[in-house]
Amino acid sequence: MSFDKNILCVGAGYVGGPTMVMIADKCPQYRVELVDVNQARIDAWNSDHLPIYEPGLDQIVRRCRGRNLFFSTDVDLAIRKSDMIFVSVNTPTKTFGQGAGQASDLQYVERTARKILECAKSDKIVIEKSTLPVRTAEAIKRILHSGGSDVHFDVLSNPEFLAEGTAIQDLLQPDRVLIGCDDTERGKAALEELASIYANWVPPDRIVRTNIWSSELAKLVANAFLAQRVSSINTISALCEATGAQVDEVAHAIGLDSRIGPRFLKASIGFGGSCFKKDILNLVYIARSLALNEVADYWEQVVRVNEWQQDRFVRQMIAEMFNTLAGKRIAVFGFAFKADTGDTRQSPAIRVCKELLDERAELRITDPKALANARLELGENELIEYVTDPYRAAEGAHAVALVTDWQLYRDLDYQRIYRSMTKPAFLFDGRNLLDHQALFHLGFNVVPIGKPRLVHF
Ligand code: NAD
Ligand code: UGA
Repeated sequence: MSFDKNILCVGAGYVGGPTMVMIADKCPQYRVELVDVNQARIDAWNSDHLPIYEPGLDQIVRRCRGRNLFFSTDVDLAIRKSDMIFVSVNTPTKTFGQGAGQASDLQYVERTARKILECAKSDKIVIEKSTLPVRTAEAIKRILHSGGSDVHFDVLSNPEFLAEGTAIQDLLQPDRVLIGCDDTERGKAALEELASIYANWVPPDRIVRTNIWSSELAKLVANAFLAQRVSSINTISALCEATGAQVDEVAHAIGLDSRIGPRFLKASIGFGGSCFKKDILNLVYIARSLALNEVADYWEQVVRVNEWQQDRFVRQMIAEMFNTLAGKRIAVFGFAFKADTGDTRQSPAIRVCKELLDERAELRITDPKALANARLELGENELIEYVTDPYRAAEGAHAVALVTDWQLYRDLDYQRIYRSMTKPAFLFDGRNLLDHQALFHLGFNVVPIGKPRLVHF
């Protein structure tokens, strides 16, 4: 069967995977291929057990795989066959050398650019899908054009705004698709070629065209603004606890102002996920490199507040539980960084569990999708048990610490849980997910975020 276009994505992760699956589903006229250096990941994409959990994803994969959607590790061949190449490799925070702890580690992006240069025999449009520091496209273009051949590469920026857990919905109906290009005729033509793919399902007014640097920067800034809202409301949660105000009521009241809006105002144990912290620190690093120290300090504070909020949660647990957690069993409800994902990267659960272990608490960790990743994060240890059944996690525990906002935790039989726990039984709701009054009446001592604590003594 012949296809109108060969679309390739290098990097079959949380972004490359769902994004290409959506393109394949909406555009049967194109052949879409995902390649990755990770054989296990590709094998999983080709199996019934996909490497990532995302509601609705497996049905679409089943529909498209083998029709116009393919997964492989043959990067060289796939590059040769392709017309357009999305680069969706990881861009973690650097852990070594200059900029360690803040700058983006661009080695995977650079390696991909060099691979494209090595294998390409015809002109290609190369699309930055990974989140990158502003002006990375310049470096990519230099590498791609360092070969001295006749092959021409157009580089576009097309950052992804999907959130995990709602990736399919976000891709189906994006608030916007952002594409940045060089201000040249070739650049604009390449942009229109990419826009025409999205036009298969995205309304024209949602496809936003900018210059390439604005596009790169807008992605970092979008994440910084979202994270800033979470940190902002989390600072207010501490004020609420000290004054008797209720953070959900404050958030509701301010969110009704259409200039503020209601979203991303849910006070919590703090934000997690692979990107918020990494992207803000990258922004901080860029600002500092440009000697914009006030800008850097401003954004850095968003990350500091996030860490403070997680530490505050543990401090509160210690204070409520008579200043010692040593030898006490704590059931940790949820390890994923948010509901509806198995992803645990930068999950608040990691920091919280490590601090609880420092206090010599015994942890029983439960999560419907993230236990395998939790094991990778914390390892095996005589103080940790990983259990699938939340009721078993809570048996004999002195406290439940609810860390992830899985809906299933709202629907548990808390009477049964209370009966099985050591008394006095504490419940620390790091997501304000549960009915605190009802739990209090069952006998629990309840400590929410940003609301008065409900205790029996
Ligand atoms: P990921 O780690 O899940 O996936 C990246 C994949 O790239 C890995 O499977 C890795 O093996 C592969 N890879 C690395 N180098 C390669 C190479 N040279 N050749 C082939 N494959 C290679 O990462 P992710 O969460 O999908 O994120 C990818 C990018 O998208 C990052 O820049 C991230 O900031 C950005 N982003 C992520 C999200 C999200 O929700 N996770 C959302 C928007 C943007
Ligand atoms: C976020 C952005 O929402 C996406 O637009 C972006 O594409 C993505 O980062 C990325 O670049 O990786 P994601 O991290 O998947 O998506 O999830 P979010 O829904 O943004 O939640 C992030 C964290 O903030 C979670 O830990 C969540 O529990 C927390 N959060 C979110 C709150 O604590 N309160 C809120 O009101 C909202």
